[in-house]
Amino acid sequence: MNYRHAYHAGNFADVLKHTVLLALVEAMQTKSTPFCYIDTHAGRGSYALDSVEARKTGEHRDGISRLHPAEKMPALLQRWRDRILATEGNQQGLRHYPGSPLQVASLLRPQDSAQLCELQPDEAGKLHQLFRRNPQIHVHQRDGYEALKALLPPAEKRGLVLIDPPYEAQDAEYRVIEQALKSALQRWPTGIYAVWYPIKLRSQVQPFLRGLQRIGARRVLRAELLVYPDDSPLRLNGSGMAILNAPWKLDETLREPLRAMASLLSREQPASWKLDWLLDEEGSMLNTPSPLPPSRLPRTPGRR
Ligand SMILES: C[S@@+](CC[C@H](N)C(=O)[O-])C[C@H]1O[C@@H](n2cnc3c(N)ncnc32)[C@H](O)[C@@H]1O
Repeated sequence: MNYRHAYHAGNFADVLKHTVLLALVEAMQTKSTPFCYIDTHAGRGSYALDSVEARKTGEHRDGISRLHPAEKMPALLQRWRDRILATEGNQQGLRHYPGSPLQVASLLRPQDSAQLCELQPDEAGKLHQLFRRNPQIHVHQRDGYEALKALLPPAEKRGLVLIDPPYEAQDAEYRVIEQALKSALQRWPTGIYAVWYPIKLRSQVQPFLRGLQRIGARRVLRAELLVYPDDSPLRLNGSGMAILNAPWKLDETLREPLRAMASLLSREQPASWKLDWLLDEEGSMLNTPSPLPPSRLPRTPGRR
């Protein structure tokens, strides 16, 4: 377990992941009934952007730092950016990047709760410290996949699970996620599950997405943002979020923010994005992720 999110906090992949997360929490909060947030791979919760780790990579400069307050952007993306800038410690400018636990914690209503799992002891210790005075938030230093067995279904009956592993096990991680989701859906078929995945080679991701079409899920939406073509195993070319039991009209909520992210986060060449349903309401396939190489993939409306 060498991965530390401090090297990557606020990068272009976090912009996608955390904007989708905000959309999901807002969708949960359209009803006043309580919901539970479960973060299987929570990290330490807050990251100083002047830390040795963050300065070494500078990844936030091609992520959150590109979303200047002067930029006009779709309402969801703007709300998300404004919330990051309103985080404690950011009054004089962006100094800290809040991780998924802190971003969701700031949105919880009195009736909501959160369960945060982090396996790495130092990271879990910092997370515990961050929320020690917050009775709505429960920190567990344990394996997030194992914890799902104990935590599902939550007492609230409504909720959202974020699965955001470091993929140190590479392709093997996909199989672990697939198994975890399969068993989670059996325990709690109505929960919303959001899985973040890296994109290096497209051919590595396709079997995973096809696998998600076979685990008994419904309404599976895929949202991806690529800052490089998906044809090199040597760098993070992009990332995606697969959302199972996605809220009604989530695709419409995400379309313009994704378009804006692609425009704001482009590098030497224009970034591209994808947004499509892999499974519909009945669990029928709408779009089979193609095994073709990227250059021969059919164009979808979101793809440049
Ligand atoms: C990508 S980071 C999480 C970032 C966080 N979700 C966010 O968005 O701010 C992945 C985290 O998972 C932790 N981790 C690795 N394997 C784990 C496991 N099996 N169970 C729980 N946490 C794990 C790592 O220590 C790391 O902090």
